[in-house]
Amino acid sequence: MTPSPADSIIVAVDRPDAASFWSIVTPLRERTALKWVKIGSVLFCAEGPTFVREVVSSGLSVFLDLKLHDIPHQVGLTIGRLRDVGVHLLTVHTSGGAAMLEAAASAAGDDLGLLGVTVLTSHDQASLAATGVELALRETVARRARLASDSGLHGIVCSPLEVATVRPALRDAMEIVTPGIRPPDWATDDQKRTATPASAIAAGSTKLVIGRPITHADSPPDAFDAIAASLG
Ligand code: C5P
Repeated sequence: MTPSPADSIIVAVDRPDAASFWSIVTPLRERTALKWVKIGSVLFCAEGPTFVREVVSSGLSVFLDLKLHDIPHQVGLTIGRLRDVGVHLLTVHTSGGAAMLEAAASAAGDDLGLLGVTVLTSHDQASLAATGVELALRETVARRARLASDSGLHGIVCSPLEVATVRPALRDAMEIVTPGIRPPDWATDDQKRTATPASAIAAGSTKLVIGRPITHADSPPDAFDAIAASLG
């Protein structure tokens, strides 16, 4: 089946509990071609794996954004547990290094897609240097993207403005998942480096993580449909 533009939209449902999650997701499911939702650490800590299993059982594809970063053994075991939960995409932090990423890839197998976070978009050059990383930020992003690729990850997460920098470092089939997406008529909120949905896809993003422009819209289903149409 040919993927539809809606398949490239991951709605970040940053809500604190299951009831408020479903209050957004149920109308989206009823009225749009919603396929993907992102569940972050707050909702995961509040509602746990049982809730995530329910979301998967409802037929949605789940991107669980936990940004794992620990010794290889622990990360491997954690991913083994999350495979049982049935999530489809999961983030690990590339700064964990090659051994951690390889352990993650080996634990994930074929049915769980692993995305490597390169450099958090909350970092600037000074705050990155304060952690001991002296390399230029953009070069750090490219180097970590290559590490993710060489370690067998399925994709990376980066700013839409970094896609051109990371693409040459990646294997052809790898996912490039970008948050920081803002339709032309929506405020940037606290995001600093943004792109419109259409320009992010044109730059080479394979999936877009979109939160408030959908979840805080007057009508989330209408906002979802307008964004899908703009990709069209
Ligand atoms: O509401 P908004 O569209 O800004 O939400 C973006 C989502 O993407 C949030 O869930 C945020 O945690 C996530 N994200 C991000 N920047 C990253 C990684 C994830 O904004 N580098």
